[in-house]
Amino acid sequence: PDSLKLGLAGLGTVGAGVLRLIDAHGGEIAGRAGRRVEVVAVSARDRSKKRDAVIENYRWVDDPIALAQDPEIEVFVELMGGEEGIPKEAVEAALKAGKHVVTANKALLAHHGVALARLAEASNVALNFEAAVAGGIPIVKVMRESLQGNDFSRVYGILNGTCNYILTLMQEEGTSFDDALKDAQAKGFAEADPTFDIGGFDTAHKLALLTSLAFGVETAFDQIYVEGIERIAAADIEAADGLGYRLKLLGVAAATEHGIEQRVHPAMVPKHTPIAETFGAQNCVVVEGDFVEDVMLSGQGAGAGPTASAVMGDIIELARGHVLAPFATKVADLKPYPQAAM
Ligand code: NDP
Ligand code: HSE
Repeated sequence: PDSLKLGLAGLGTVGAGVLRLIDAHGGEIAGRAGRRVEVVAVSARDRSKKRDAVIENYRWVDDPIALAQDPEIEVFVELMGGEEGIPKEAVEAALKAGKHVVTANKALLAHHGVALARLAEASNVALNFEAAVAGGIPIVKVMRESLQGNDFSRVYGILNGTCNYILTLMQEEGTSFDDALKDAQAKGFAEADPTFDIGGFDTAHKLALLTSLAFGVETAFDQIYVEGIERIAAADIEAADGLGYRLKLLGVAAATEHGIEQRVHPAMVPKHTPIAETFGAQNCVVVEGDFVEDVMLSGQGAGAGPTASAVMGDIIELARGHVLAPFATKVADLKPYPQAAM
């Protein structure tokens, strides 16, 4: 076929970003992928809403679940968000109908990724989710492909752009927590419900996916210890600063003798280290493999452009005809280790 035909559901920050990227680079992408990428139909809640991208050229479908099964599309791109309801049903419907799925929805995958991966395997289609972890940083591809020769001992880092943006503004500019959060929302970094960001849950969603990729175990979101940044006050930041530290929200998954430890919490990180020097909406992910040793990736962890870049990478992979197994659907010997409150 001369083009890879997409149905795109969700036209907010990320969806509009993807449409703008295709408008800007569609020609070059066709050259690079050997095949044109073509959006044939789009869906969202409100057809009349003003968008950050031109959508008039695309067929409108009211129901994302109908779009997911549309006979004209080969790939369903899910950019709605949320772990239950229409996004989940639409992704299930697409996979059952034999459509490849590309999604940025870490909440959905952290809770239902294994079941969805099984559906994808049964239909022999892809479930690609680069944008679901650390925005523009290509960590999923690195874990799924480049570093597959390793046994991993740890994967950790700053995985939420909104929290890092808030902490940076509080630390560097003395901005209040509330004003910094509003600013992060205005820039399109935050989740529709920002409690997911500031409560640490979004970091935990991403950590569950990284744990599965690193250790070959099923995602186990419920076994992650989660503490957010809501209780961090200016005085905490000042105290850390005086001692030579910066406060950062970290997600950590580590192999221990008890099993895999998964935790999300604020941590004091020594200044002048790469993690401490990760500012604004940037993320930083460190992977420890037995042969490769430490690999560190950093870049923009949220926002329309970086996230659209990650979504597009997944789409180009499909345009090239590459279909990878999503992530672990078998439980390995190591079991995720339930964390007591710390
Ligand atoms: P937005 O809230 O900006 O956009 C969501 C879009 O989905 C809107 O167009 C909305 O429609 C549509 N939508 C939501 N629910 C439904 C539904 N039930 N039926 C039909 N349409 C629906 O979210 P984002 O673009 O920021 O995020 C999208 C996804 O990408 C989420 O999973 C998020 O976690 C993930 N993500 C976001 C990043 C970011 O930086 N923003 C980075 C990485 C991942 P309408 O506009 O009509 O209301
Ligand atoms: N709300 C998320 C963040 C979006 O701030 O990191 C990127 O996943």
